[in-house]
Amino acid sequence: MSITVVATVPFPDQRPGTSGLRKKVAVFRTPHYLENFVQAIFNAVDLGGRTLVLGGDGRYLNPEALQTILKMAAANGVAKVLVGRDGILSTPAASHVIRKHRAEGGIILSASHNPGGVDGDFGVKYNISNGGPAPEKVTEAIYAKSRQITAYRILNGPDVALDRVARLTLGSMRIEVIDPVADYADLMESLFAFDRIAALFRSGFRMSFDAMHAVTGPYATEILERRLGASPGTVVHGVPLPDFGGGHPDPNLTYAHALVEAMAAPDGPDFGAACDGDGDRNMILGRNFFVTPSDSLALLAAHAHRVPGYREGLAGLARSMPTSQAVDRVARRLNIPCYETPTGWKFFGNLLDAGKITLCGEESFGTGSDHVREKDGLWAVLFWLNILAVEGRSVEAIVREHWASFGRNVYTRHDYEGLATPVAHQVLTHLHDSLAALPGRVLAGRRVNACDDFRYVDPVDHSVSAGQGIRILLEGDARIVYRLSGTGTEGATLRIYIEAFDAAPERHTLDAQASLADLIHAARALAALKEISGREEPTVVT
Ligand code: G1P
Ligand code: ZN
Repeated sequence: MSITVVATVPFPDQRPGTSGLRKKVAVFRTPHYLENFVQAIFNAVDLGGRTLVLGGDGRYLNPEALQTILKMAAANGVAKVLVGRDGILSTPAASHVIRKHRAEGGIILSASHNPGGVDGDFGVKYNISNGGPAPEKVTEAIYAKSRQITAYRILNGPDVALDRVARLTLGSMRIEVIDPVADYADLMESLFAFDRIAALFRSGFRMSFDAMHAVTGPYATEILERRLGASPGTVVHGVPLPDFGGGHPDPNLTYAHALVEAMAAPDGPDFGAACDGDGDRNMILGRNFFVTPSDSLALLAAHAHRVPGYREGLAGLARSMPTSQAVDRVARRLNIPCYETPTGWKFFGNLLDAGKITLCGEESFGTGSDHVREKDGLWAVLFWLNILAVEGRSVEAIVREHWASFGRNVYTRHDYEGLATPVAHQVLTHLHDSLAALPGRVLAGRRVNACDDFRYVDPVDHSVSAGQGIRILLEGDARIVYRLSGTGTEGATLRIYIEAFDAAPERHTLDAQASLADLIHAARALAALKEISGREEPTVVT
């Protein structure tokens, strides 16, 4: 089989962000666009003679992109590719496969929770040998190569059959089509008390898992229905579709509304959960009860000693800066460190590799541990099932008991999507200009203790990440945080995170919007949102 060297020119906009390169499908379909970026990966990372893992979330363009990447890998001297059957690999499963098979890296085809289909988004992400997202020095190297590119290499060969487990060759490269679920399901079985969870299901406990027609369908069906014996139909929307059935595969109260409604029905299931497009995010629900991701992280940490994989104790905990401080309280009680990192999973990688933390999470429905180097949606769901099985009480009862013991960090996030980029920057500039005068002032009845633009020094490699979001720290552990989204593909999204600590939650309303109303109002006024953007109400509230 011959190799073609195709002459090409750099595309202007191929800078990979924290989650790889994410663009509209139409952009990825521009001739040579995908090939250029993939060649830039091969030029930046030496994969010659090495093993690469390849898979994706099944979204539109996956089949064509998989074939292109396989042919390019063969032409670039990759020794072996492990690819999921039908091209399927969830992000956490890919992370595990990279680690378990000691691969040099992996390419994951996904745009996470962004909509798919011909008019939706597509993405390419490179993960390194620890199984985690490429750190900035690698993504910057890829970007630099993408700007110098003059040609890419591709094998002239037939398409590879990916529909069954097999060992194949393409030119001189070996290809193993692997069961995308098996290794991951075994890992879960090694961490959680499957016997206890199976007994819970046998006792009549009912669950609904919404795979949102995305990648976790096959994983959840194997683990929940086959290995744990949950009744058939526990997994809904379980078949991955190229356009996710027209939905938005993001498990939150807005986009997973079908599940939210099912959980509100009088005869609804005891436990509800959903995962996103590529399987790294999770949402946890009880009967008519929403568990915030920040509370979920704190609660998993507090109960970890009851779960086999974490029985030995936790080295430390970490949360992204905007995530609520609920987990800090658990860390203090357990007398272990708690790290505050910038937004984005990659910042947990060094802490996990160095053994400084065992569990970590973000308010954006991401929770995980040192078992892989990505957040892991189904892992969090199984962790909850394990807790429910040993506690024998409802989700709501367990959360309320946690609040009674630790207090409650009442929390909400307001997103202002689709702002014009200059407008969003104007809001931040205005805030920056106001910071110096804030300390000592009173906002929503609370004194401002301090404020800054969050700057992180990595405790392991001492690298510095500045400008990570404006923090206003108020009396009584209340906070207002502002930052711009780094993952959107249209305009700019401003996120405002609002938190207050309630030491006696049993006496107060459950409704976070109501109890945070004064802080929400103050946050908007301080940003001069209405004056600058003309907007007052957010587009998404969680
Ligand atoms: C969002 C979340 C962030 C998460 C990232 C990737 O990023 O807020 O926590 O790590 O998606 O899933 P943002 O759009 O806020 O930059
Ligand atoms: Zn995701």
